[in-house]
Amino acid sequence: MMLQEVTSVAMPATNGRMISLDAFHAQRQEVLQAWPTGAAVNLDDAVSYQRQIDPRKRFSNVLREAAARRAMLIQPRAGVALIEDHVRLLKYLENEGEADLLPTTVDAYTRQNRYAEAAKGIEKSMASGTSLLNGFPIVNHGVDGCRRVTEAVNRPVQVRHGTPDARLLAEISLAGGFTSFEGGGISYNIPYAKSVPLRKSLTDWQYVDRLCGWYGEQGIEVNREPFGPLTGTLVPPCISHVIGILEGLLALEQGVKSLTLGYGQGGCVPQDVAALLTLRKLADESFRAAGFADFHLTTVFHQWMGGFPEDESRAFAVISWGTMVACLAGADKIIVKTPHEAMGVPSKEANAQGLRATRQIINMMADQGCLNTEAVTREQAVLEREVRGILRKVLELGGGDVREGTIAAFEAGVLDVPFAPSMQCRGKLLPMRDNEGCIRMFSRGAVPLDADLVTFHRERLEERARAEGRTVSFQMVTDDIYAISKGRLVGRPR
Ligand code: 5AD
Repeated sequence: MMLQEVTSVAMPATNGRMISLDAFHAQRQEVLQAWPTGAAVNLDDAVSYQRQIDPRKRFSNVLREAAARRAMLIQPRAGVALIEDHVRLLKYLENEGEADLLPTTVDAYTRQNRYAEAAKGIEKSMASGTSLLNGFPIVNHGVDGCRRVTEAVNRPVQVRHGTPDARLLAEISLAGGFTSFEGGGISYNIPYAKSVPLRKSLTDWQYVDRLCGWYGEQGIEVNREPFGPLTGTLVPPCISHVIGILEGLLALEQGVKSLTLGYGQGGCVPQDVAALLTLRKLADESFRAAGFADFHLTTVFHQWMGGFPEDESRAFAVISWGTMVACLAGADKIIVKTPHEAMGVPSKEANAQGLRATRQIINMMADQGCLNTEAVTREQAVLEREVRGILRKVLELGGGDVREGTIAAFEAGVLDVPFAPSMQCRGKLLPMRDNEGCIRMFSRGAVPLDADLVTFHRERLEERARAEGRTVSFQMVTDDIYAISKGRLVGRPR
C-alpha cells in the first residue's frame, strides 16, 4: 500500500500481502525437510511450550516494560559450538555481566545453510575441547538442544545471525524457546552474501515473518529486529533508516507486532542522536501511514561496528563513547562490544567487561535526558527529508508493494549500501566524513536526493577538504575507514 494514500487508523485484520495459511503450511513441509532436526518441529507442541515460558523471559515483554521506565537494556553477542559451553557462557554473561537480554549468535556455516559442515564443527569441538565454530549451530542442535539453552537462563534470549534464508533456523529457534529473532530480507542479504537474489531473500524472510506472525495469532508474541548497521562502515543514516523501515513494513504485513529497529553508531555525536530520534519518529509515522496501528516499536543502538583499536583500554573508550551517545538519544536497547573486538570472538570475561563498562555509563547518564542542540535539530531536519524522499521513491517503484519496490530500488540504485559484497547492490554510493565527523555522501550514485540536499552534502565535504588542505578524494574514504582503530574519528592527513 502507498504511504500517502492510507488514512485509516484501524488495524486491518489481514492485508493483501500476508502469506495465506495454505501457502504457508505447504512451504513449511519443504522447509522442515532441509535437515533431519526439522522433523522435530511440531507447531502445536511449540505453541504449548512457548505458552509456559515465564513472561519475564519473553523478549517483547521485557522491552515493553523497560520502555515504560525509559530504561536502556544491555545485550551482548555470544555463541559457541556446544550446548553445555553455550549455557555456561550465557549464564556467565547474565550473572557477571548483568546482561538484561541474552543472545545466541549463530555460526557462519549455519548462516549459509551448510549444516553438514556445522556438524563436523560440532564433532571437532567435542574432540578438541574448544569451540571450533564462531557461534551456536541452532539447526544442528535442534529443538531440544535449544530448549536446554533457553531454559537454563533467566533472561529472554534472541537469535542473532546473518542468514539470507533463515526459514529452518526460525522454525527451530521458535520451537526451541527463543522469543526474538534478528534479521531481514535486505539486511541479512546485502551485507552478508554475494549472489543471493533479493527476491529470494525477501520472499524467504516473508516466510520467517509469517511464522512469527502465526505465533502471534496463537497469543505468543515474537520480537523481530531488522539488522540496522548493515555493513557497519560509513553507512549514511538515511540508507539504513529506509531499509529498516522497509523491513519493518514487511514484518508488519505478515502479522509481526513487536519490532525493534536498529542503528549502528556513525561516530558524529549530533548526527547519531538525530539519527536515533528520527528513526523512531519516521518508522512510527510510516507504519501508521501504511495502515498499521497495533505494534510496539523500540529502537536499538549498536556500539561502533567498524574497526576497533587493539589496545583494550582504547577499546573500552570506544565502548563507553557509544553508550553515552545511546543514552543521549534515548535508545531502548544497546548492543555491546567487547575489549577483544579487534581480535575476534571474545572470551566470556572480556564480554562481561564490555557489559559492565556499558552499565556504568548508563547508570551515570540516567535521568539526564536527550541531547538537544542546534546541530541535532539540523541533522534531524536533513535526515527526515532524505528518508521520506527515498522511501517515497522506493514505494513508488513498487506501485505500493514493499517487496517489489525494494527489488526495483536496488536494481535502479535508488537503494545502495556502501561496501556491501552483494552483486545486487550498485556500490556507487561513496560516503565520507565532513569536518565535524558527520557521514555525508561524496557521490550518491542514483539515490534520490533533492538538489539542495546534494549541495549541502558537497559543501560540508568541501569545508573539510579546505581545513585539511587537500581536495575531496577517495583517499579520505580510506582514511576514514581506519581512523577509529588508529585513535581518531576523522581520517585527517598526517
Ligand atoms: N561471540 C561473540 N561475539 C561474536 N561476534 C560474532 N560472533 C560472535 C560470537 N560467537 C561479534 C563480532 C562483531 C559482531 C558483528 O559480532 O565480534 O563484534
